Amino acid sequence: MAANSDGTVDDTAYKAAVAQAFDRAAAHYDRLGVEFFTPMGRRLVERVAPRPGDRVLDVGCGRGAALFPAAALAGPEGSALGIDIAPAMIDEARREAERQGVTNVELRTMDGEHPELPPRSFDLITGSYSVIFLPDAPAALARYAALLRDGGRIGFTSPVFTDDTFPFLPPVFTDLIPRSLLSDLPPEWQPEALRRRFNSWLGHATDLRRTLEKAGFRDVEVADEPVELVAESGEAWVDWSHTQGMRLLWTHLSARESAQLRQRLITALDAMRDGEGPLTIDTPVRYVTATVRR
Ligand SMILES: C[S@@+](CC[C@H](N)C(=O)[O-])C[C@H]1O[C@@H](n2cnc3c(N)ncnc32)[C@H](O)[C@@H]1O
Repeated sequence: MAANSDGTVDDTAYKAAVAQAFDRAAAHYDRLGVEFFTPMGRRLVERVAPRPGDRVLDVGCGRGAALFPAAALAGPEGSALGIDIAPAMIDEARREAERQGVTNVELRTMDGEHPELPPRSFDLITGSYSVIFLPDAPAALARYAALLRDGGRIGFTSPVFTDDTFPFLPPVFTDLIPRSLLSDLPPEWQPEALRRRFNSWLGHATDLRRTLEKAGFRDVEVADEPVELVAESGEAWVDWSHTQGMRLLWTHLSARESAQLRQRLITALDAMRDGEGPLTIDTPVRYVTATVRR
């Protein structure tokens, strides 16, 4: 992915890289025996509580961590549309709908930043760990407000960013990922560029409130709550990390750096386990909910 001299990246190239990364990850995404996205999606849906008959839009639905629980609550009178920029994610979610015999779910490959959908056609919009990937999320939020019916609501999750970890990772990784690896990364992966891309509007609850209010929402609530990530071993966690946002870091490491980081993480993570028991990492997650101002 070519970067400009200041570390910024052309949005089209960035989206193509994100779509390609999630396409490649789709077959194993959230299916490697590590519990994280599924409980987070469930919790998000619990918080926004779709009502029977609701029409729900799930942006960046992936394999459906939030989509399926939302569709279940919307019930047979309601429905849920899942959109994702990665076609392989949509294929996996479609297969899952067939497997579960779910009939009120529709899936479409679409850029969630510019959803081509009729105005005022949804009661609820969700996005679990996906809104962060939109290059201009504040502009997308204003488009979401226009897609909601009067009184419609939005709910999304994001990582809780700290200043010194690779985004997407809980603070426990600050000391596990050597600074030298990050400083060798190309300009677009330097901490400053990452902060600009991922959390300039999400990092502080006050900015977040202001951004949502400007986009046409009211009653904004921001709640940080940990999801207990459970993996059977350090190795299971490292394998899993290739299927989520950290994949963006792995793909930029040389084979040698990658092997060294892998070993270092496995050793450190296994040391955090209680004997042969699973590895559990309390991972802070930000839940944001709001109502359209109409
Ligand atoms: C971390 S995954 C989360 C998936 C799912 N919501 C979950 O909780 O498991 C992020 C998802 O956002 C999707 N995504 C990223 N950029 C997008 C965009 N511009 N439009 C639609 N989907 C996007 C990715 O393809 C990926 O499936």
